[in-house]
Amino acid sequence: MTSDAFVSAGQSLQADPVQIQLADEVAQVAFGEQLGRACNGEGVLFLQGTLGMGKTTMTRGILSAYGHQGAVKSPTYTLVEPYETETARVYHFDLYRLADAEELEYMGIRDYFDEKALCVIEWPDKGAGVLPTPDIELTLTKEGDGRAASLVAFTVKGAEILAQLRTML
Ligand SMILES: Nc1ncnc2c1ncn2[C@@H]1O[C@H](COP(=O)(O)OP(=O)(O)O)[C@@H](O)[C@H]1O
Ligand SMILES: [Mg+2]
Repeated sequence: MTSDAFVSAGQSLQADPVQIQLADEVAQVAFGEQLGRACNGEGVLFLQGTLGMGKTTMTRGILSAYGHQGAVKSPTYTLVEPYETETARVYHFDLYRLADAEELEYMGIRDYFDEKALCVIEWPDKGAGVLPTPDIELTLTKEGDGRAASLVAFTVKGAEILAQLRTML
């Protein structure tokens, strides 16, 4: 374990990821809500997984932790959807249609990460080179009829969030 705020890209801070099986959409949303609470309205979260793996569903759970109960649509064409609730500011990114990571520079993406906000990012690989190191990377894979989620921390803050999350599971 290092005391530096960051470790180099591709290297996670915690050897043991948080791993959980999510049997259905209800479980997915419930886990997202726990993750949202553990983040406490701050951080950068990468959501990895192929199309239909439940990234937007997970985001719906995260948002419900801050009192958002409405629909959550993937901002595929707008790239980002802001949510302002009583308890947090959350930016939901979907970079699936992003052709060039440099476009993110033009939309002033760095401002989003400077704020006290939670940034949840689907298809983060499309923004490689421009996006910051995430606090947490969550990877969704298929597990029977459901999904498996694996979370690793890349920063001290991310490790703290995962430690908090473990106490809730
Ligand atoms: N844990 C789960 N088990 C089974 N189906 C799930 C689970 N989580 C989400 N789904 C379903 O997967 C489908 C795609 O979800 P979505 O969140 O849109 O995926 P993505 O954003 O990764 O493309 C939805 O029909 C959703 O109900
Ligand atoms: Mg999606």
